[in-house]
Amino acid sequence: MVRYSELRGRDLLCLADWSRHEVEAVFETTRMLKSRFYAGERVLPLLAGRSIALIFEKHSTRTRVSLEVAAHQLGAHALYLSRDQLQLGRGETIADTARVLSRYVDAIVARVRKHESLLELARYSRVPVLNALSDLSHPMQAIADLYTILEHKGRLRGLKLVFVGDGSDNVLHSLLVAGAMFGMHLVVSSPPQLRPARVVLEAAMREAEASGATIEFEEDPMKAVEGADVVYTDVWVSMGQESEAEWRRKMLRPYQVNGRLMERAGNKAIFMHCLPAHRGEEVTDDVIDGPQSVVWDEAENRLHTEKALLSLIVP
Ligand code: CP
Ligand code: NVA
Repeated sequence: MVRYSELRGRDLLCLADWSRHEVEAVFETTRMLKSRFYAGERVLPLLAGRSIALIFEKHSTRTRVSLEVAAHQLGAHALYLSRDQLQLGRGETIADTARVLSRYVDAIVARVRKHESLLELARYSRVPVLNALSDLSHPMQAIADLYTILEHKGRLRGLKLVFVGDGSDNVLHSLLVAGAMFGMHLVVSSPPQLRPARVVLEAAMREAEASGATIEFEEDPMKAVEGADVVYTDVWVSMGQESEAEWRRKMLRPYQVNGRLMERAGNKAIFMHCLPAHRGEEVTDDVIDGPQSVVWDEAENRLHTEKALLSLIVP
């Protein structure tokens, strides 16, 4: 058991830094906050008087809005700070930015181009730093994703999650570590040139050894999705990869999640996507708008899981 106070003040940079029990504490708190939200208790001022800086170096719809609303519903104040509006955009160092912001605010959430920037922020910040997506990982997304799977399937252990598409994707990285923590059977179906980063795969394998999870690679998406409980995909060209767009789209064309692939997966499979989706590329309209898709629940759960994370972490 994790005492909830143990999460107070913690960074969330990568899920590999957290234990399964700690993530379970987030799920537990999410359940409580979500049911109170649906019972009409929209504002629960657990973080009254706190301020949370949201630094964004890249675009965002879900992460930014869910965090701002989460902060509001917890009685805290969120400050959206785009890189260009900060002196950071004119050359002030990350270290100095962290030193100064952490004299004002109670937590810093950051979406960065380079994961090293998060590590640097965390090194010089006096307050917890949370990863809102980097080139390496997207832990908040994976927490919302696993919570959504729990809601739809009632469990995580033993479920087969097949990720189809870019095997080097940041969202996949976090899903691998999170899924491995919870004993899932994880299958990555991608071209051999696009595989997860070694550091992530090693972390996921360590989790898998402890939990009994499995991690497999299957280049053929038709074979990969057989018996899937969850079929997951993400964009073929992530933010910051625009110069690689042409070869990525060409290489990933056989990895589109379409009606034929979902038919092979079977009726019990749910379809997930962190969004934004590039309809007609990695997923077709009939799938994302179809009966197996849970993408809107998944997006909604960003709000509830982030409320839980902030309420547990922010001092
Ligand atoms: N899934 C996700 O992080 O979406 P945004 O880029 O819109 O925040
Ligand atoms: N892999 C995508 C995720 C967006 C939420 C990107 O980094 O652009």
